[in-house]
Amino acid sequence: MGQPKMNRVLKSISIHHKLALLAALFWALLFGKANAFPPTQSPNESLVYSHEQLQAFKRFDDEQPARAAGRSFLCVPLFRSFNLQLAADVQLAADETLAVTGDHPSLGAWSLDKALPMRALNKQRSKWFLRQWICASHRVYYRYLIYALNAAGERVLRQWEAQQVPRMLQTYEAYRAPGVDLYGEAHARAVGGGVQLERGWLQREYVIELKFCWPEHIYLSGYNSKATQLRLKLSSLSLLNDARIEVSRFGYNRSSFRAQRQQGVDYSAGSILIYRISQSLDVANAFRLNIYNKQQQLPLGEIYIWPNQLQGSRGILQLPIVSNLQQLVGELTLPYLIIKPLSRRTSGFSLRVSFQRYWPSNWPTLDVGQRGLGDNSIADYLAVARAKGDMVQLDVQLTRDYVPIVWQGFGFYSSELPSSQSIVNELELRYVLIRELSYAQLKSSRVFLRKRWTLQEHTQLNVRDIKEHRRLFPKLAEVYAALPPTLGLIVEVKWPQLMANGKLESMQTLNKNLYVDSIIETTARYGCGRPLIFASFDADICSMLRLKQSAFPVLFISAGRTDIWQQYMDLRTQSYLQALNFAQSAELLGTALHVQNFMQQRQQRRLLELSLDLPQALFVWGSELSSAQLQDQFRALDVSGLIYEQMDRVGPSSWKRASLFAAPQLQEIFGQQCVAIGNSTTMPNAKPTKPTVWPKMR
Ligand SMILES: *[C@@H]1O[C@H](CO)[C@@H](O)[C@H](O)[C@H]1NC(C)=O
Ligand SMILES: *[C@@H]1O[C@H](CO)[C@@H](O)[C@H](O)[C@H]1NC(C)=O
Ligand SMILES: *[C@@H]1O[C@H](CO)[C@@H](O)[C@H](O)[C@H]1NC(C)=O
Repeated sequence: MGQPKMNRVLKSISIHHKLALLAALFWALLFGKANAFPPTQSPNESLVYSHEQLQAFKRFDDEQPARAAGRSFLCVPLFRSFNLQLAADVQLAADETLAVTGDHPSLGAWSLDKALPMRALNKQRSKWFLRQWICASHRVYYRYLIYALNAAGERVLRQWEAQQVPRMLQTYEAYRAPGVDLYGEAHARAVGGGVQLERGWLQREYVIELKFCWPEHIYLSGYNSKATQLRLKLSSLSLLNDARIEVSRFGYNRSSFRAQRQQGVDYSAGSILIYRISQSLDVANAFRLNIYNKQQQLPLGEIYIWPNQLQGSRGILQLPIVSNLQQLVGELTLPYLIIKPLSRRTSGFSLRVSFQRYWPSNWPTLDVGQRGLGDNSIADYLAVARAKGDMVQLDVQLTRDYVPIVWQGFGFYSSELPSSQSIVNELELRYVLIRELSYAQLKSSRVFLRKRWTLQEHTQLNVRDIKEHRRLFPKLAEVYAALPPTLGLIVEVKWPQLMANGKLESMQTLNKNLYVDSIIETTARYGCGRPLIFASFDADICSMLRLKQSAFPVLFISAGRTDIWQQYMDLRTQSYLQALNFAQSAELLGTALHVQNFMQQRQQRRLLELSLDLPQALFVWGSELSSAQLQDQFRALDVSGLIYEQMDRVGPSSWKRASLFAAPQLQEIFGQQCVAIGNSTTMPNAKPTKPTVWPKMR
């Protein structure tokens, strides 16, 4: 057997006539004594792998004896070339590098820090190359990603190929000449045309958003701020240019964040513009915002933002605008948001699987029980499952001691009088907010609820009996434990907003980052492994949920334009189109809009297509949907889901055979959310993933 030739054989990829040699090697590995292999005893040192490489290949013997039983033990090592090309519109920043990661230990086992950097082959840095040992005898999964190094030399994930199932190299393909992979396009036939690139979740950096999302922000003396076209430019005052500034200017299908252009970005009152600044956790920069008159290119003034003005999780900046001559010429009022990585978590998430925008467009229109049947109790949610509903929507908020509980309002009527004493006059009752009470206080409160015109006492439902499925204020963790994993959930996170008239919807003083973290952590620990979507009426909560994790998709819920409620100040909430733009800007799964936005039948299809073509998921909600006829209309138009109350009366139980998520394959897919969120490294009983290429229907 021509041993010395083997070196060349293994490196060569297209080797039909030498396959026999490989087979020979394979047999040698199988039947040869293991001790024939260590480097010291090899016939020729130069063709034997280093000790580390051997260790890497041995994974199936050592780590997964149970699994290995059904598969080949042995790694037939082989050099694999990874050739990657970037599309013309992908522009790398100077500090960015391409890397490849995969399930094999020699590809970094899905860890960002161990991903293998590639080598740029041309000056434009659009072609990349890497050669790496892999096992020819195993199916290999891999993805490409872009990272940058921060000042401490740590890797920051900028973007990754986030198809739910990664790229795959079948065993028989290992010997084929490798083609050229196009960055982002892992499955040409998958939803969205196959290109799917996602921003990395926050790990070693935090994000500041400066939000021009109210009707007016800039007052300039001598100017009609509504009529003046402005140009804004934000810059970091740090010498080390370590703040990454991006901007999103809302417009249909062009709302994504992108680097700020040299000359700045146009702005006029009433439009939406969001600056996003990403910085390392230990960095706090000062910024300058320059304002120009767009038509005349005249500098109108500048604003300085100092780090100590950006406190907590959110706030409103009120800053003077000064001219070149250091004169006060106006004022800027600007809300800001600070998004930090999940607290109490240093690692856990991996690049193995992503659900950030996982929603195959060929799924049927789902039936979602709004607050269960309408009452937000566990019994209600279970009734939706019995009525063959696919999902339930529920409302989550936190008590003063950060316990996530389910309740639809921001508070309820209560009384300090002992329960033996009956209440005769409504004036004896006080409206208490959930956020003012600890969980223990909440559970010992008397509860009065408004039913029609009167307040009725419901304290008997506020008792701590875990088995009582009708009880009020169930903990989110208890809800997760009580519901079958075949029932999908839309977990709506409640947060009061500023109304258009300048009043607050309700008070909230909890730290917004910890608030969101607490809900994500509870969900990771008790709720993963079922179809689960986060949602909120508050756009900032959506951005936070999106940037802190990669396991659960996020929906923006909005009333849009209706005559039912007062509007919020935030322009992102005020219309259907801006909701779509926000979902694109924040890279959400999609939106859930009130049915009144689509009541004009002639326009219905066109309006819905605006969302579905992007492509985004679109759920429709509202009490009007308790008409079977209207439901049928929306089903015919392929909306992603209908969210309505009283599914037991108007729902699908008479015609649907089973809920979508009863399918075992889908159970298996959503089981991987536990892996994505880092609560589990393997799915018990799950077979290795197969790429599910859902045919594209739209
Ligand atoms: C090992 O291989 C190298 C080149 O691949 C060759 O120069 C050397 O003579 C070989 N040694 C033995 C002991 O065969
Ligand atoms: C998450 O991990 C914890 C601790 O390992 C475990 O007790 C829990 O069952 C896991 N939850 C899920 C939903 O898998
Ligand atoms: C959105 O923009 C992209 C890129 O510019 C384009 O390919 C796509 O067709 C557009 N989609 C719609 C629905 O306009």
